[in-house]
Amino acid sequence: SLDKIVGTAVIGSLQFGYNTGVINAPQKIIENFINQTWSHRYNEPISKTSLTAVWSIAVAIFSVGGIFGSFSVGLFVNRLGRRNSMLMANILAFISAVLMGFSKMAKSWEMLIIGRFVVGLYCGLSTGFVPMYVGEISPTALRGALGTLHQLGIVIGILIAQIFGLEAIMGNDNLWPLLLAFLFIPAVIQCVLLPLCPESPRFLLINKNEENKAKSVLKKLRGTTDVSADMQEMKEESRQMMREKKVTILELFRSPLYRQPLLIAVMLQLSQQLSGINAVFYYSTSIFEKAGVEQPIYATIGAGVVNTAFTVVSLFVVERAGRRSLHLLGLMGMAGSAILMTIALALLEQLKWMSYVSIVAIFAFVAFFEIGPGPIPWFIVAELFSQGPRPSAIAVAGFSNWTANFIVGMGFQYVADACGPYVFVIFTVLLVIFFIFTYFKVPETKGRTFDDITAGFRQTSAMAEKHTPEELNSLGADSQL
Ligand code: GLC
Repeated sequence: SLDKIVGTAVIGSLQFGYNTGVINAPQKIIENFINQTWSHRYNEPISKTSLTAVWSIAVAIFSVGGIFGSFSVGLFVNRLGRRNSMLMANILAFISAVLMGFSKMAKSWEMLIIGRFVVGLYCGLSTGFVPMYVGEISPTALRGALGTLHQLGIVIGILIAQIFGLEAIMGNDNLWPLLLAFLFIPAVIQCVLLPLCPESPRFLLINKNEENKAKSVLKKLRGTTDVSADMQEMKEESRQMMREKKVTILELFRSPLYRQPLLIAVMLQLSQQLSGINAVFYYSTSIFEKAGVEQPIYATIGAGVVNTAFTVVSLFVVERAGRRSLHLLGLMGMAGSAILMTIALALLEQLKWMSYVSIVAIFAFVAFFEIGPGPIPWFIVAELFSQGPRPSAIAVAGFSNWTANFIVGMGFQYVADACGPYVFVIFTVLLVIFFIFTYFKVPETKGRTFDDITAGFRQTSAMAEKHTPEELNSLGADSQL
């Protein structure tokens, strides 16, 4: 039943992917709608600059919602529990579906913008709730593989959105409100299935001190009656955590204990977003157009297919190859692909067939992304922190991810205009920097218990500060008082 439970949770990830990809194809049609409502209201057509502004806001406000949502994760997970937080968040999905679905009928592009903000809030929360829940219910040996299912949900969501957005399906004048409101359906499904899923046993034991409940959930999750090893490990973590039951975001920044894992968590999020991946997923159609590709929409869907396929590859190798090596391989491969893309764009005028090279370059860029930098940052944060600081750490990591997402989404078009074919050189440089950081700073977490991983960090921070682990523990305790 573990797979069904994780499957239910990652409906939240699917929603994130869907709303990331959905706005790409129907741009022209929705711009039309904005223009029509504007004329209807003010008796004159909308100016080019106002139209660009309204459209950019409608696109980008999604990530602003994500920034707020991801930062608020900690407000919910310890009060309501992990599962009920996911359940409750669906209210936002319903509100957003109604706002966007009826915006055309109401002749209001404002409803569209507010709807995008609300669904951004929902997705920001999901990118915290889902990896936390999945990480906490997974057995140690499968934490990476199951954690990758969050990313798989995202990429499938993007692909569905790309396909539904085709003109023949829902990307047309009549059906685009339905295309945007479609998130209603996964939300209903999740609301039916989540109540059948258990609460995280770690939350039950460590936060709620409900040992019997935790035990019976574990038996169900592991499919055996002997769960003493898991219980033992959680109790050990709980014993360590007694002094730091709940760590606020401020304390997370103050305590030297968390400096190292926090730096790693944030840098990995930045490496994911500043790799430039969403330049592809937001603007691929226009990138392909500029590269001389004849059917850019199909090249975009091709990128979505490659994206999904390589996430599946990562799923199967992540427990064998480990997080660290896959992340390094992915960053290096992306840097190589970005160089190839630059060459293709630079030589396009002389050599027409370079447009094919650009397709290969983008597909390779996406494939290497999904080998490591796509899935790993999302689930590794839950691994780097124990129960006490985990919610705050996930909030800070999510905040960094969504902020970088926003910057790339807003900035790429301007930078691309300024740099011409050399825009991917910027990503190459960033990728190399993240490679070096990962090489020197990121430890392997594969097959290690949460307790073991945090103990590793306690040691390095103790060496750095010339304190013993015990002293540092009590330092952590002091900041609680
Ligand atoms: C990751 C990123 C997301 C991106 C997606 C592409 O989940 O967080 O921003 O769109 O991968 O597959």
